[in-house]
Amino acid sequence: MQSFQLLAEKFTLHFDKKHFPEQPASLYSPNEYFLGLGGKRIRPVICLMGNELVDEINPDAWHVATAIELFHNFTLIHDDIMDQAPLRRGFETVHKKFGENTALLAGDVMLVKAYEYLGKIDPAVIHPILHLFNSTAREVCEGQQLDMDFEKQEEVSFEDYLKMIELKTSVLLAASLKMGAILGGAGQRNQDLLYQFGKKLGIAFQVQDDYLDAFGEPEKFGKQVGGDILSNKKTFLLIHALEVADATQKQQLKNLLASNDADKVEKIVAIFKACKVDEWALQLKNKYLDEAFAHLEDVAVLSKRKQPLKALAQFLVHRDY
Ligand code: IPE
Ligand code: IPE
Ligand code: MG
Ligand code: MG
Ligand code: MG
Repeated sequence: MQSFQLLAEKFTLHFDKKHFPEQPASLYSPNEYFLGLGGKRIRPVICLMGNELVDEINPDAWHVATAIELFHNFTLIHDDIMDQAPLRRGFETVHKKFGENTALLAGDVMLVKAYEYLGKIDPAVIHPILHLFNSTAREVCEGQQLDMDFEKQEEVSFEDYLKMIELKTSVLLAASLKMGAILGGAGQRNQDLLYQFGKKLGIAFQVQDDYLDAFGEPEKFGKQVGGDILSNKKTFLLIHALEVADATQKQQLKNLLASNDADKVEKIVAIFKACKVDEWALQLKNKYLDEAFAHLEDVAVLSKRKQPLKALAQFLVHRDY
């Protein structure tokens, strides 16, 4: 069993090569630019961990991990268009640098490339992998649409928020882990428990993502701080603030949401702080982390084999980027 750091290094060695042809450079160099910005590589690593939990790494796991990371990068390129985000991993987003139309196509061809890697795996396992990959991809699209729909809704319930983040974020983490477990030869019960672990961990991960969007340190975070506020995203921060705010704060929040106030971000963050959303964030992350760990406990493998996953989970919910 290898640590997150070691697996991430190995995956990076494997992944950091040219994935696209030279021409037309106007299409492919944006993709190489984006992949060159790196990222935490969480999903491919969690896939490899799912495999290592039960057995030595199956050579197909590298292809699947590669496909997953390409798929993730495709979703980010398109997400940044949808969210009008200027920055990603500390650099200009693809659509800002190369234009929206190119970013759309660059994302499309990245998705196609992901499927090319999936096509390389042993025909004996391709069916369950492809089935999971496809249903997950469909769910991510559903989550992304809900995320945008919610921008225009004045109030969104916490339950609806949870459903949305499960779809846009959690299912990919969960599926990455489960695909690794399938390739490692895990039994059905272990696969299902790992999927549930990944889903709960994914929720805690997105809670931290939303938290950092408002409270992250710009130099470390790598994305535009306050981006969610500017897009009127219905994050748990806003949902919780609207729930606990007094009448005046609530009215202020509603007015700010409907405005283009030059200090919108600062003013909303100040209300978030007054409503103690940071304490709530901590509670929420711990709740989902505990639930995640309860599923991991039930996975029938030696406890010490679970250590890398536990450490990864802790990193994901405490990270500052
Ligand atoms: C960003 O994911 C998108 C979300 C689901 C929150 P990551 O934070 O894993 O992005 P990178 O790949 O490390 O940049
Ligand atoms: C993105 O959620 C989820 C997907 C890309 C599918 P966010 O919009 O919160 O991710 P960031 O903050 O831009 O990374
Ligand atoms: Mg975004
Ligand atoms: Mg988004
Ligand atoms: Mg975000």
